[in-house]
Amino acid sequence: MITLPGLIDPHVHLREPGATHKEDWDTGTQAALAGGFTTVLAMPNTRPPVTDAPSLDLALSAARQKARCDYAQFLGAGPDNTQAPAELAWRTAGLKMYLDQTYGPLRLDEMSVWMAHFSNWPRELPIVAHAESRTLAAVMLMAALFDRPLHVAHVSLREEILLIRAAKERGLKITCEVAPHHLFLTQEDIPHLGGGRGEVRPRLASAADRHALWDNLAVIDCFATDHAPHTLAEKDGDNPPPGFPGLETALPLLLTAVAEKRLSLDDLVLRMSTNPRRIFNLPEQPETWVEVDPQEKWEIRARDSYTRCAWTPFEGWQVRGRVRRVVLRGETVMQDGKVLASPGSGRNIRA
Ligand code: NCD
Ligand code: ZN
Ligand code: ZN
Repeated sequence: MITLPGLIDPHVHLREPGATHKEDWDTGTQAALAGGFTTVLAMPNTRPPVTDAPSLDLALSAARQKARCDYAQFLGAGPDNTQAPAELAWRTAGLKMYLDQTYGPLRLDEMSVWMAHFSNWPRELPIVAHAESRTLAAVMLMAALFDRPLHVAHVSLREEILLIRAAKERGLKITCEVAPHHLFLTQEDIPHLGGGRGEVRPRLASAADRHALWDNLAVIDCFATDHAPHTLAEKDGDNPPPGFPGLETALPLLLTAVAEKRLSLDDLVLRMSTNPRRIFNLPEQPETWVEVDPQEKWEIRARDSYTRCAWTPFEGWQVRGRVRRVVLRGETVMQDGKVLASPGSGRNIRA
């Protein structure tokens, strides 16, 4: 048995308010604990999107009643909240800017709106961007011009990781995350996943892109699941929404990579706990740890999972390494696949 610190997932979609048939704060945080995560940062592309005080209150009141692990909620950058008051900002995980088309209505096209957010958002609080390819180059330049840190969500392409590497070599305050699905899947898996089940943003990329991510592990600050549950009926329907669930598969997949010597356990802990805590300025969780059996071999099956979406792109994968117990602030909150934490026991780390 090995002991890891409580893991932090800085990128999850819990779908509440507005789409609790996909997930809610209860099922999503149960999935987090089952996967070894003790803190999750929730994305704002809900219905309504979290962009102001009333919508933030809506998300946080659901969280207060239901969350079983610790959390914070991002604010979505919109055209109308560039002057968000500091007291609102300080209640959030940070500001999320959607700069390319993805699920939800929050895409920001106007560069002048980006600029207003960069100049007004409190400097001590994180800004995270969904920015792909040339959009990434543009927003990184803007962050440099405004001399403020920027965290890049779900990097998937060789050109992106090379750009971020070059920026870091120049001393720019850029950090980034990569999602497990971009480390373990490529566009060649899409036919086998079947139509809409392969839809995700950023899209699954080429084998060369996937290799470039592994070759530049040193440039990757965090592994973030981008847990984006949609139901199978939606994924297999006419207009499949993009997104994969990931909370319950991330650690086993990465522990399997550790067993295969593709990365070290230290590499993993740095990217799933130490770095996200620093980048997002999260408090220490005392008496919090995760016990893992690094040898146990098992098969990923959606029917054994907590996420309400009831499917996984990793169905049938043989993995090595299993979460046995999670202790959060001295309490056993998950043991042998059973979530023991009660709804509402999770804390808002920005409260
Ligand atoms: C996310 C979602 O479903 O909310 N989908 C996805 O494909 N990653 C949105 C996002 O993270 O861009
Ligand atoms: Zn995104
Ligand atoms: Zn996302």
